[in-house]
Amino acid sequence: MSIEITAIDWVDNGVTLLDQTLLPLEEVNLRITTVTQMIDAIQRLAVRGAPALGVAGAYGVVIAMDEGAREDWTSSKLETVVDSLRDARPTAVNLAWAVNQVREIIPQGREAVLAAALEIAAADKKSGTDMGNVGADWLIAKLGNKKLNLLTHCNTGSLATTGTGTALGVIKELHARGNVNEVFADETRPLLQGSRLTAWELAKCQIPYRIQPDGAAAMAILSGKVDAALIGADRIAVNGDTANKIGSLGVALACHVAGIPFLVVAPESTIDRSMNDGSQIHIEIRGDDEVTHVGGRQVAPHGAKTFNPAFDVTPSKFVSVVITELRAYDIAGGETL
Ligand code: MRU
Repeated sequence: MSIEITAIDWVDNGVTLLDQTLLPLEEVNLRITTVTQMIDAIQRLAVRGAPALGVAGAYGVVIAMDEGAREDWTSSKLETVVDSLRDARPTAVNLAWAVNQVREIIPQGREAVLAAALEIAAADKKSGTDMGNVGADWLIAKLGNKKLNLLTHCNTGSLATTGTGTALGVIKELHARGNVNEVFADETRPLLQGSRLTAWELAKCQIPYRIQPDGAAAMAILSGKVDAALIGADRIAVNGDTANKIGSLGVALACHVAGIPFLVVAPESTIDRSMNDGSQIHIEIRGDDEVTHVGGRQVAPHGAKTFNPAFDVTPSKFVSVVITELRAYDIAGGETL
């Protein structure tokens, strides 16, 4: 069943974002017409997920040009503002990648930059459909044409992209082919992208699911409840080391021990070909409040220190395959990207 969820769109010379901080209880669109608003939306995760961040960055450059024209910015002020947009979050390569792609075109004028940004959004949408097919074909070839129990972590669907998604897009395609029994969605502490966003998408698509605390993932996997796990990625190094939402590494380790496939699903634009391995990936560390408070209420002692990395890096030796819109890379077989 295909459903329309639009996380980010270019409308009437500005960006419309579905505010993901309010889902699933409220569906509110945000109107973004300044770079400050866009950076704020990115940093508080109103828009999130690597491919959607890329699209937000590309549209953000057009917004910067329009704002600069209104406010009479110098070209060096425009460059500084575009740098801040590029650096709004550090781990997902798609943000810097997309901003760098379109800023090259600034000398050609605003319409050319907008056309390039719209092209990035359209390509992302198409890549989701293609990844869905590559990933579904790979899993069915690997595990047989049967109903599967699948585990996923974080949100990698329409809310994280302009199309069907990456890992969740594969799950949707498998469901369309009649190959999904049930999805185990990790709740994804601390910001609950799994229970708030993935569950919302799965429910809309009428895909059977259950939410589990992140700590239940290893037990679900080792007790044979899960046939395969699928995650997205924020940055993939050439050797297949993969940065993704914190908790992905634990899922990968459990899959490795259980001997079940662990799939990384991401567009080619998420591969950072300047990095040979994941050791140089900049991991975003987020604030204490995300850990010490739940739903705005304090649940830890005053002054408690935290360790709150937004992402972890799964070494390639625990990755079975990387699925992109082009093909399946056999990481377990020693292939690189
Ligand atoms: O902090 P977030 O919500 O932006 O983290 C998102 C993830 O880790 C996703 O798994 C990743 O970006 C892939 S989205 C298709």
